[in-house]
Amino acid sequence: MTEFVRASIPPPPAPAPLTWPTDGISYGGDYNPEQWPREVWHEDVRLMREAGVSLVSLGIFAWGTVETSDGVRDWSWLDEVVELLHGNGIAIDLATPTAAPPSWLLTAHPEIAPVLADGYREPPGGRNAWCPANPVYRHYALRHVEELASRYGRHPAVRLWHVGNELGGGNMRCYCDLSAAGFRAWLEDRYGSLDALNVAWGTAQWGHRFGTWEEIDPPRGRHGAPNPSMFLDFERYSSDALLSQYLAEKEVIERHSDAPVTTNFMVGAGAQVVDYASWAPHTAVVANDHYTLVDDPYREQELAFAGDRMRGISAGRRPWLLMEHSTGSPSWQQRNRAKDPGEIGRNALAHVARGADGVLFFQWRASRAGAEQFHSAMLPHSGTRSRIWREVVELGGHLRAIAEVAGTRVEPARAAIVVDDAAGWALGHGLKPHRGLRYGPELRAWHRALWDLQVLCDVVPRDADLEGYDLVVVPTLLVVDEDLAARLDAVPRRGGTLLVTYLSGACDERNQVIPGGFPGAFREVLGAWADEFYPLQVGERATLDDGSSVADWTERVHLDGAEAVVSYTSGSLAGGPAVTRRQVGRGAAWYVSAPLEPAAVDRVTARLLAETGIARTVEAPPGVEAVRRVGDDRSYLFLLNHTGDEHTVAATGTELLTGTDVEPRVTLPPGTVRVVRER
Ligand code: GLA
Repeated sequence: MTEFVRASIPPPPAPAPLTWPTDGISYGGDYNPEQWPREVWHEDVRLMREAGVSLVSLGIFAWGTVETSDGVRDWSWLDEVVELLHGNGIAIDLATPTAAPPSWLLTAHPEIAPVLADGYREPPGGRNAWCPANPVYRHYALRHVEELASRYGRHPAVRLWHVGNELGGGNMRCYCDLSAAGFRAWLEDRYGSLDALNVAWGTAQWGHRFGTWEEIDPPRGRHGAPNPSMFLDFERYSSDALLSQYLAEKEVIERHSDAPVTTNFMVGAGAQVVDYASWAPHTAVVANDHYTLVDDPYREQELAFAGDRMRGISAGRRPWLLMEHSTGSPSWQQRNRAKDPGEIGRNALAHVARGADGVLFFQWRASRAGAEQFHSAMLPHSGTRSRIWREVVELGGHLRAIAEVAGTRVEPARAAIVVDDAAGWALGHGLKPHRGLRYGPELRAWHRALWDLQVLCDVVPRDADLEGYDLVVVPTLLVVDEDLAARLDAVPRRGGTLLVTYLSGACDERNQVIPGGFPGAFREVLGAWADEFYPLQVGERATLDDGSSVADWTERVHLDGAEAVVSYTSGSLAGGPAVTRRQVGRGAAWYVSAPLEPAAVDRVTARLLAETGIARTVEAPPGVEAVRRVGDDRSYLFLLNHTGDEHTVAATGTELLTGTDVEPRVTLPPGTVRVVRER
């Protein structure tokens, strides 16, 4: 067991037909009965039935309560819970408990814990406290999964498998010697020869040429300026190393069970811990954990972005599953405020609107003890007399009322935003022209403008098929490979509209600058290019001739076939283009060289919609969210009023939550959701 674990990833299987774990839209949450005495379990299932719970994720952190010492297992309590749930008609999403190795294992093998970049080995006590390249961890984890899967794999209540928990959350990167060996092997597979690697990484700089594989280590240490190409490959390796653990567990499960296998992603806006787009084809259904951030004034829009991104990575294999969200305050933010009245239902149904066929929470019953003792739950500390409980029961009723929506798809979007974690990893790291820029704000800026106008937008990964989109937005996509660059280049040439923002296409997939002027990969199609970056200093703003101003980033842009739509009016860039547009046949290519203010983004977006003819789902004020789900012979219009005012929206049909007919408009009181089966 001294060899490291190789992160070699087989090609994903062809998508198989999926049997959804429950009828209708699944409802439930993480269930941790091991934290409670037996009497409580009976109350749990009674209240689950009252709330309409149909699916629970069981055993996520139960390794140590089952395998109490090396090879000694007590399944009795889990057997009992499985039968109790089954007897009450509640389906089980059974977890492999490999996120949290038991204390006896961490004590016997402290070397399984991950090592941080500065060499510090994580002590026991956290979660995901294991290194994916560690063969000892792998051995014990798979041994336990084998026992678990052979025991419950054919149980009729087990309808889904939940591998580990948020893989990469807590052990996103490990820099130990085994990880170093794993990284070298991964690099050998990728490059074949050291010569190729030296060229790809540009190791001539600072004399860092590698003469043997053994000289290569992960980007350890605190000097903050590792080779950017090495850095990016280490991120990719780390994602694959974690994926290989998922795949190893999945392989064991599938020998004992036909139930679908997944794991819970952490998809939001910005760069993610691993490259979920490459993981998604290895899951039977993509599942997400999503938590809104209390201090985000547009948290509903961020939620919508995450939902659209889930749809983007589950292309052709929809629906997806919301594996976790919260009924109220989480406990890991700075100031963990409760949700506002009605927000639980709005959040849950917003995920359903965007393609989720199940909404689950962390967790069923609030924990009295342990690190998460102040985290909200479906059944909070204050019990059934709480507002949360009332809203949880109400949501269960609403999900039953819209059960017929299950299995339909979100209607095809005509707009897409391209995201790639490699770009996010590269942008947030190293000696960049502006070291404070992150992947996320610019993605959300364009999505927000479309969301405010009730325009559906897919958030798609780098290998997505872009053919069907009339508008493709490419925000701060720093790193781009030739294939994606060519597919984006084709968008305006076939009559679509392409919008590219600053920093996109500056580097190739090796993270090497594309020479000839920025944005290298798109210069030609944009008919505009920049030769110098002018990041603005703290507090500094540059003004534009549309009356707005920008902070953080500006560029000296030159026209080469495009026309200036907006120009800079201050500083040494005054008179130069800030936003450009090039007519390409019937299509158009836009370049945006700075992070525009929301009102300026809105103005550009209005022009993009006018020139592409993309229609709004409904005409409503910002803050009213509208998405349509469609089936073979039916359609459902989801309307969510996130504002404090009443609005009416054009809709004709049967409103399913109130059971009333509406025509020609439906009224949305403040904070409400309406789901209209359209006529
Ligand atoms: C994550 C984890 C859960 C729980 C929640 C709390 O999503 O998967 O186990 O810790 O966070 O918000």
